[in-house]
Amino acid sequence: MRKPIIAGNWKMNKTPSEAKELIEALKPLVADNNEVTAVVCPTAASLLIAKRYLEGSNIHLGAQNMHWEESGAFTGEVSPVMLKEIGVEYVILGHSERRQYFAETDETVNKKVLSAIAHDLIPIMCVGETLEEREAGVTDTLVAGQVKAGLKDVAAADIAKLVIAYEPVWAIGTGKTATDEEANRVIGIIRKTVEEIAGTEAAEAVRIQYGGSMKPANVKGLMAQPEIDGGLIGGAALKAEDFSALINYQK
Ligand code: 13P
Repeated sequence: MRKPIIAGNWKMNKTPSEAKELIEALKPLVADNNEVTAVVCPTAASLLIAKRYLEGSNIHLGAQNMHWEESGAFTGEVSPVMLKEIGVEYVILGHSERRQYFAETDETVNKKVLSAIAHDLIPIMCVGETLEEREAGVTDTLVAGQVKAGLKDVAAADIAKLVIAYEPVWAIGTGKTATDEEANRVIGIIRKTVEEIAGTEAAEAVRIQYGGSMKPANVKGLMAQPEIDGGLIGGAALKAEDFSALINYQK
């Protein structure tokens, strides 16, 4: 059985003091939830303080990005070694906003995935189509291609342990959600692609999230789908009340 994983991508929101506030509010609301893996992914500037206030809780820490090198002349970047030292466990890689605004490609995503695994960080690798791509009817091949390219040279045993997030770009921050069935269908294609490249065992183990306007009102329907193992949440992760309702969707 795959354990559901609900992760909050705070994007470029929450200063360190606001991060502390949100974590302090969130902790008691999810303290008795052992059925779901809960993760918060603050901006790099808030990771250290987040780690301090998450200490002793059941909420895990993730970063939103990293460079694949350990150190060097890469102004503005954060390395896997730095994330590890802070105590980060997960790292979002290849988010569509990184692909769109910061020139991330399947190749750089693949380098980051390999590096994260080598440094014992769990990638949350994002894939998903734009509205134009959906309307052109290329969703399935595009998403499968992103999965294959992003996981190139990754060992099957490592693929089994990572997280993939299917985030249709047109559903991010728009209030539009893929229907439960359509999200489930595309995630099924992702799992099939994993099976092709890494075998049945890895495909059955890998956790695949849906992301894009997930909120308390639609979480139950999405999570009831057999292929959907969790959510990667933006807007609704910024309020303790909403995010705890997502984590506690089974209650
Ligand atoms: P929203 O939940 O705000 O649509 O954002 C989704 C997302 O991009 C999470 O990574």
